[in-house]
Amino acid sequence: MAAHQPVLQAEALAFLNPCTHTRLLDCTFGGGGHARAFLNAAPNTTVTAIDCDPEASSRAVVVEAQFRSRFSFHDLNFGQLDRLPEGDFDAILLDLGLSSFQLDTPERGFSFRLEGPVDMRLNPREGISAGEFLEKAPREELVRAIRDHGEEKRWWRVVETILNARGTGTLGKTASLAELIAGAVGRRPYHASRNHPATKSFQGIRIAVNRELENLQNALPLAFARLAPGGVMVVISFHSLEDRIVKRFFRRMAGKPEHSGDSLPQQLRQRKGTLLTNRPVRPGEEEVALNPRSRSARLRALQKLELEHLEG
Ligand SMILES: C[S@@+](CC[C@H](N)C(=O)[O-])C[C@H]1O[C@@H](n2cnc3c(N)ncnc32)[C@H](O)[C@@H]1O
Repeated sequence: MAAHQPVLQAEALAFLNPCTHTRLLDCTFGGGGHARAFLNAAPNTTVTAIDCDPEASSRAVVVEAQFRSRFSFHDLNFGQLDRLPEGDFDAILLDLGLSSFQLDTPERGFSFRLEGPVDMRLNPREGISAGEFLEKAPREELVRAIRDHGEEKRWWRVVETILNARGTGTLGKTASLAELIAGAVGRRPYHASRNHPATKSFQGIRIAVNRELENLQNALPLAFARLAPGGVMVVISFHSLEDRIVKRFFRRMAGKPEHSGDSLPQQLRQRKGTLLTNRPVRPGEEEVALNPRSRSARLRALQKLELEHLEG
């Protein structure tokens, strides 16, 4: 299996600024690409890494063997960062979404291009598989997954089709599920779209099963609380729902209106950080050509104020 190609690595490192003894919290270890780059960038940097996928911990063992006391790994969901025992960090990274290890393993059920069980759990030790979710979830939860999280325009047809397919076995296999959804949205000519017609629905189901948006909402303030004064937080997201959550949180921390409808009086805002990216950083053409999975990536960075400037 091909290794995971870290996305926007040089850009992330430039913001995270590894210098001697800088402490990084990597909330999404994956294949350890960003973590290794940070450890190699300067002497005596340290990395505390977490990931909720049990398979990430076996990859972490290799990094630990190489960097010893400079690296530690915790098998944890970043939505529960408050359970992390260690203290403050100078740099924090969240590189959201899936690793290539997850996408390219048919048994994980993330890809409609590979035949496998419809599982889609980042942490298969918890919760229910996506197949079980599709069989049992109330209609409104399916609507939330397909319409709200997947942003599928023909969500109504997809939801009805899923409900009608219950009990037939079709919802339990990636290939038959993708075929079913493609039929519901109406097949487009191959050249009319780069994406498979089931792309959006698969994304929505995956987000729902893993509670991805809730975990991100929980993680951002918990991570910011662990950031030392002057420290920098970088988030790389892969779809607009994640990016919106990050953008709004970062703007709130910077004491700015979160969105155009945010009318909170300025005197009630508290500035705790500085936006280092007004617009998200996107990968260049060269990176996208080398690693097509990077094409939707957006990086945002926020710096916590120095202690003397932190209000309240
Ligand atoms: C895009 S990959 C990270 C790749 C990594 N930066 C690298 O260079 O190899 C995202 C990783 O985040 C993990 N992840 C996603 N959501 C998580 C969560 N809520 N808690 C902990 N880990 C999570 C996934 O299991 C996956 O391994």
